[in-house]
Amino acid sequence: MDQRIVIAISGGIAAYKTVGVIRELQKRGYGEIETILTDNGSRFVTPVTVGAITGKVPYTDTFESGRALSHISLVQPCGILAVVPATANILAKFAGGIADDFLSTAYLACTGPVLVAPSMNTEMYRHPATVRNIAQLKDDGVHVLDPDAGYLACGTEGPGRMPDAEIVADMIEFILHRHIGGPLSGRKVLIASGGTSEPIDPVRTITNRSSGRMGKALATAFALAGADVEIVVGTGSSRYPAYCRQTTVETALEMMNAVMERSTDADIIVMAAAVADYTPETVLQEKKKKNEDSLCLKLKPTADILKTLGTRYEGKKILVGFAAETANVTEYAKQKLAEKKADLIVGNLVGVPDSGFGVETSRAVLVQKDGTTDTYEKISKEKLGYHIVDKVQKMLEIIR
Ligand code: CTP
Repeated sequence: MDQRIVIAISGGIAAYKTVGVIRELQKRGYGEIETILTDNGSRFVTPVTVGAITGKVPYTDTFESGRALSHISLVQPCGILAVVPATANILAKFAGGIADDFLSTAYLACTGPVLVAPSMNTEMYRHPATVRNIAQLKDDGVHVLDPDAGYLACGTEGPGRMPDAEIVADMIEFILHRHIGGPLSGRKVLIASGGTSEPIDPVRTITNRSSGRMGKALATAFALAGADVEIVVGTGSSRYPAYCRQTTVETALEMMNAVMERSTDADIIVMAAAVADYTPETVLQEKKKKNEDSLCLKLKPTADILKTLGTRYEGKKILVGFAAETANVTEYAKQKLAEKKADLIVGNLVGVPDSGFGVETSRAVLVQKDGTTDTYEKISKEKLGYHIVDKVQKMLEIIR
């Protein structure tokens, strides 16, 4: 399967951001990137700039000597043709099947998936003609990355802004992997991520330091392996990949309900969330006023989501849990594996500078039901995510 990435730049002010998208993809290991520049695109970013960044001369002209028929060979086959940004004009050409320059001709010839990132003035974006063209493209199977709303170069506010480079790169990577077909294609994964927040009164809550970073890494790793990923998102600062379905929750009870409701369809369930073990027995309706006395809060235990899942689905679904510990990580991870009837527990050390909540790396141990343990002294959460996916994939092979 061809994995070639072709990025096309049409003539919108956001074209300058496309250089950042290419850099982001290169950072992620995609070295071979081809580019197409439309005439107007090259007014915003020059072929010299694009060529210097990719190390390849961009395609600009259908009739360029020495590159005859390249509008076909470039995109037959290809892993993805991504038009970033896509102007109202190029969307109209694509929707109408007009082939009067290199990009519009290559689009018609393309046998791989196509992504467009519309970016333009809000009124142009909302114009019935553009709305109609985007709807037509969606109908034709083109992936559309909706623009962000915000302050635009033309001085107006509204939808039309091209999303940040990281988000565009996420989408390109996801579509590319989908096209190639991953080992977990057709599998459904449910991930609970982040922390929970238990209200005391209308102003205060009990929460924890979970950022959701590990859950984000897992969502990405599972999705890039071809799985259909849904995330139940608790508290924390992480931004999850736009291509995963997301439901936001606050309390442990809400997380329990959201996970259980979505659990039936899932083949794999990952409890990466730091769920509160206790919640206030009563929530005060009015703000608690201070006084000189010490304050005693009465807390009641919350339900254990993973344990509930283990009781219901042991042997029927793959269940992955975490054990956040300040000591004896392997021992506690083994205990939790048995108690919660999970297939895999990721034990990780918390409360040290290079492992735990909000940190990029983790000191982890993967404990499996068959007794295998794998220790990772210091590993990025992204890499750990890939190891976890690898283990889960092997478990599925055994079940099959
Ligand atoms: N978990 C859960 N529901 C809870 C508490 C925890 O589903 N109410 C899950 C976590 O998402 C994690 C695993 O259980 O996958 C272990 O969580 P952890 O906080 O490490 O341990 P606890 O079971 O809460 O036990 P303790 O706090 O005593 O270590």
